[in-house]
Amino acid sequence: MDIEKLQQQLADIQSQAKSSLDGVASVQALREIRARFLGKKGTLGKLMGTVRDYLPEQRGQAGQALNKANKAVGELFERMTEQIASKEVAAEASQASAFDPTLPGVRPMLGNVHPVTAVQWEIEHIFQRLGFTVEAGPEMESDYYNFEALNIPADHPARDMQDTFWLKNGMLLRTHTSPVQNRSMKKFGPPIRCIVPGRCFRYETIDASHENTFHQCEGLMVDRSISIANLIAVMKLLLREVFRREVKVRLRPGFFPFVEPGFELDMSCLICDGKGCATCKRSGWIEILPCGMVHPSVLRHGGIDPHEYTGFAFGLGLTRLAMMKYGIGDIRVMNAGDLRALVHPSRLTGPGIGANT
Ligand code: PHE
Repeated sequence: MDIEKLQQQLADIQSQAKSSLDGVASVQALREIRARFLGKKGTLGKLMGTVRDYLPEQRGQAGQALNKANKAVGELFERMTEQIASKEVAAEASQASAFDPTLPGVRPMLGNVHPVTAVQWEIEHIFQRLGFTVEAGPEMESDYYNFEALNIPADHPARDMQDTFWLKNGMLLRTHTSPVQNRSMKKFGPPIRCIVPGRCFRYETIDASHENTFHQCEGLMVDRSISIANLIAVMKLLLREVFRREVKVRLRPGFFPFVEPGFELDMSCLICDGKGCATCKRSGWIEILPCGMVHPSVLRHGGIDPHEYTGFAFGLGLTRLAMMKYGIGDIRVMNAGDLRALVHPSRLTGPGIGANT
């Protein structure tokens, strides 16, 4: 191989490269031309691998010549790329349609507390203003607190295996927050005013309105001469405060072994405005507040004399209340970690999320 020939070749390639740039207008086109010279199979690229074909004493010289040419052509393309790129940007900016700085930006999703937590805090606040304390109890309970102390006899259907998650250690996952009634009676003695927000568990098949893990808020008021009138007044105040408007309610007799008399307080479904949807099982009403006057035997279990004291209790469905309040049509959203359920509550109102047909 001849060095002089190589130098001649390199000079030719360089001038070809220069002239190939005439009239090139886009970075893309430039990239293609660059590959014809500097790519592995390009004219210069191929020559780069030929150093070994020279006699050992010529290799240094050949290598230097090749590197110099390679660098020169590389720089040529780099300069040209910069020039064209800046022209392209300028052209784009001058086109009015390319970028409109007056368009509104993408609104970021704002994180917030879970809807159940939001409603829980609100309820705690309402009841604290009425002089109630906020209590808590264990999620793993004994048969005694969950059933026995609540006047639920051993053969009551509420103890059915289908409703309760029994644990291997003989304990159970509380099926409601009512076990804390007895705990609070023993802790405070009368008079008592407390609420107990908390997580409950039931062995349920999950659908749009049933979950095996949900939140309740127990309420208990025990004092001298507490009557049904007190119960109704507090329940109405509660719903009015939570929904910030008068909510239609209806009372039906309801059976719970730990209250006598017992009621089911329903409110008109706010998802469908009482018209009937999947959430309210097409009835237009949502069962939201089972309640009643504390059964004498429950007071006795708690060490309170039912001749001297009376009381009312309620078991508010916190999860269901949160769904009503924020227009969430499907209870499964609540435990699914669905971030749409965590945006600011004000954005959850309206058509709502989840199945709503
Ligand atoms: N603990 C009952 C339930 O979960 C609700 C309830 C509470 C009913 C207090 C009456 C009084 O079904």
